Amino acid sequence: MDIQEIKQRFGIIGNSPLLNRAINIANQVAPTDISVLITGESGSGKEVFSHIIHQMSPRKHGPFIAVNCGAIPEGTIDSELFGHEKGAYTGAVGERKGYFETVNGGTIFLDEIAEMPLGTQARLLRVLESGQYIKVGSSKVEKTNVRVIAATNVDVYDAVKSGKFREDLYYRLNTVPLKIPPLRERKEDVYLLFRKFTSDFTDKYRTPPIQLDDEAQQVLINYSWPGNVRQLKNMAEQLAVLERDRIITAQTLLTYIPHETGSRNLPMRVDNQHKEDFSERDILYKVLFDMKRDMVELKKLVADIIEHGEVAANYSNHSQTLNQLYRDIELPGNAETQFTLQQPVNNNTGGNSNNNSNEAYNITHEAEEVEESLSLIEKESDLIRKALKKHKGKRKLAANELGISERTLYRKIKELNL
Ligand SMILES: Nc1ncnc2c1ncn2[C@@H]1O[C@H](COP(=O)(O)OP(=O)(O)OP(=O)(O)O)[C@@H](O)[C@H]1O
Ligand SMILES: [Mg+2]
Repeated sequence: MDIQEIKQRFGIIGNSPLLNRAINIANQVAPTDISVLITGESGSGKEVFSHIIHQMSPRKHGPFIAVNCGAIPEGTIDSELFGHEKGAYTGAVGERKGYFETVNGGTIFLDEIAEMPLGTQARLLRVLESGQYIKVGSSKVEKTNVRVIAATNVDVYDAVKSGKFREDLYYRLNTVPLKIPPLRERKEDVYLLFRKFTSDFTDKYRTPPIQLDDEAQQVLINYSWPGNVRQLKNMAEQLAVLERDRIITAQTLLTYIPHETGSRNLPMRVDNQHKEDFSERDILYKVLFDMKRDMVELKKLVADIIEHGEVAANYSNHSQTLNQLYRDIELPGNAETQFTLQQPVNNNTGGNSNNNSNEAYNITHEAEEVEESLSLIEKESDLIRKALKKHKGKRKLAANELGISERTLYRKIKELNL
């Protein structure tokens, strides 16, 4: 497959020589059964490449599983990977299939391979060399046919030197090394990635498009991106949701960039707590955007009335529209509220429909002066109530429409006593 087709198919953005080289290697090694060791800093795209290799191999219809060796406790990793017999250890009530059995015919992605305990490394070496393994607590040799792709963001050879990683396994895995370049070594890709991510997120959150001014572009490109593509993606998401002014200046951008600490490998925090906060902010900003849009519509309407000088003739129409608009944005109080437009003291609109001239007109409520509540909590409860009503109490659909998770919605309903 041609390199551009690969990028398109897997959503890979970038055109730098180093990235293209990595894609070419993946493309060449994919059809073979050779083990691949993917190295690269945190967030640079190692997992993405493991998928590319699997999907472009003859095993693509077979299973694929990603296992994070750093996240499995040392005591259970052998049994997770290779399975165990009933009674193999205290608590092993039944027998268990390991990934090397369930993924037979497919690909295993062993992430953070440098964290794998030495005992497990011995089992892995055997299965790589002969396709054979033995379940924990058994003596029977089993056969499997699994391709291994490993990844690391530390130098595994350092672990070899300090005796924490088997040298023979290192060479066996590293038959074809695949290095994913850090973002700061492919500066020409940074802006491309940024544009793609912001346009995806503004679509997703239905917020207006984002642009960087020239100086901000320079800041973006020259930053070192220790968290690589993932960090850039997170930042694009935050900008798309949070920034009111959609032309981003260097100064604004800098507030999203942590101070350089000298520690290059620090990934950005992307734990669940963070995602949860994000959903809450999300809803608040949606409310603010909606309010702003209503204000803009109101201003336009007033400007229209002024410009066409049809205040008297169309008064009743416009007042209906205004009433409708106020109903739409749900001013608390009485929907029957009437409006009068008063001529400005200084009448020099001169055909210029500049919005500032609107301020010369006062809009007063004849019936009663109602003040719109600006409480976000009220707006939030309102929106939630509306969404629930619209979807006849179906929380999943309501949460979807509100752009928050079902869990957050559930919590909000309790918190706000809805
Ligand atoms: N070239 C690219 N184009 C578009 N998106 C990319 C590219 N490279 C990485 N990504 C995206 O960046 C994010 C991080 O990628 P990935 O999870 O593969 O990184 P990683 O190297 O495995 O990170 P870690 O070491 O933290 O596990 C993902 O959302 C991925 O889709
Ligand atoms: Mg990863």
